[in-house]
Amino acid sequence: MKIILIGFMGSGKSSVAKRLSIALKMPILEMDERVLQKTDSRNMHEVFAKGGEMLLRETELSIARESSSMSNIIISTGAGVVQNKMVVDYLKQPKGNIFFLNAGFQTICSRLSEDRSRPLFTHPAEANALYNLRYPLYLNYADKMIDVDQKSVNEITEEIIKGCYGK
Ligand code: S3P
Repeated sequence: MKIILIGFMGSGKSSVAKRLSIALKMPILEMDERVLQKTDSRNMHEVFAKGGEMLLRETELSIARESSSMSNIIISTGAGVVQNKMVVDYLKQPKGNIFFLNAGFQTICSRLSEDRSRPLFTHPAEANALYNLRYPLYLNYADKMIDVDQKSVNEITEEIIKGCYGK
């Protein structure tokens, strides 16, 4: 079983991945952390300073390629992975189940209003344009979409487990 969480920044992918990992006793591949390791950076701003968004996207592609041979893993993606179909195709191999954590833009803004860690979430209007651009991609790649606005991390985790095992 390979569980892949996609969704916009602030949709809760990392928190849900942690809870899923405990519930299913499966390891997590946190793509953002791996990007920092691979580019020898302390944070995303440093990644962008070193090689711009291109460095991030290339590194995501190589991580996704590496993950294509992993079969027992929860992958918490960076929100931008849907911009490259090759990344999604690698993530899905050998047998991936993609869950889209769908949070409304208002929810995301309230969660990230004090957060300065994301280079692509500095101006709300630009972030909103990115959200609108990616929304159809998340929908298109998802095996299952989960509305997360009114749900706890536990409830979302339960829904994903049901989606995987039909429990
Ligand atoms: C990005 C999302 C971030 C991180 C980077 C770029 C994006 O991941 O990969 O800052 O393109 O939206 P999270 O979705 O974990 O915030």
